[in-house]
Amino acid sequence: MQIHHNIAGLRAALQGDAPVAFVPTMGNLHDGHLALVTQAREAVGPTGRIVASVFVNRLQFAPHEDFDRYPRTLQRDAELLAGVGCDLVFAPDEATMYPEPQGYKVHPPVELADILEGHFRPGFFIGVCTVVAKLFNIVQPDVAVFGKKDYQQLMVIRRMVDQMALPIRILAGETRRSDTGLALSSRNGYLSDAEKQRALLLSQTLRGLIQAWQGGARDIERLEAAAMLTLRDAGWLPDYMTLRRQHDLGTPRDGEPLVALGAAKLGQTRLIDNLEA
Ligand code: PAF
Repeated sequence: MQIHHNIAGLRAALQGDAPVAFVPTMGNLHDGHLALVTQAREAVGPTGRIVASVFVNRLQFAPHEDFDRYPRTLQRDAELLAGVGCDLVFAPDEATMYPEPQGYKVHPPVELADILEGHFRPGFFIGVCTVVAKLFNIVQPDVAVFGKKDYQQLMVIRRMVDQMALPIRILAGETRRSDTGLALSSRNGYLSDAEKQRALLLSQTLRGLIQAWQGGARDIERLEAAAMLTLRDAGWLPDYMTLRRQHDLGTPRDGEPLVALGAAKLGQTRLIDNLEA
């Protein structure tokens, strides 16, 4: 497996006709990321080239967020990626990705990007879309794989690719969970063992939301308020707990595929999760 830190080196290594599949990450990898690499391999076959990027993107962090303490574990990440058959790692430093202040940015539509995560993390999806667009330009993949754990991000990226007519097939990777049901996340590393146990309440409460809807409850505001209260009573600080339709994250109607999404702080750690139904 090759590791490239600059754009020219990566581009030179990617010359040729083999299809390229891309898995963008911020590093500190877990089994969920590695499953995306395996999915990328299945998409392009044994002769395809798999590129994973490892870059902690300052543009998608607000000043009070965890950019500085976000774990940088490139050596371990590279070993893990090599172990699942990744061909190339692109691990640029900030000066490579942003040699001058990034004045040109991708602004996703507000109706999709200023709700939920975007409401509580203003500018987050501008930062995500800008770096992903730039990474797409650098890697020029045929296929890119994003995890459903970041459900709204996946949707925002899909729309960007559609609207900009980028010739990239976006694949969605299922959320991987620990044996106890905790969605794998790089931020789980911030949690103590006791907090990891308590963290299960997030997915349990999301499941409760879905079950209530499936059981016939239709007062969404009340369902969501009850879900928020469940978390607050257990000492969490929830940002949102909500039921949406999968199609566009709008208000669900009978018969439409659903997704329950939530974000909440447990101690110092903000967790997100979602469940489809
Ligand atoms: O999902 C992530 O890890 C990041 O948002 C991404 C897509 C790598 C962009 O920095």
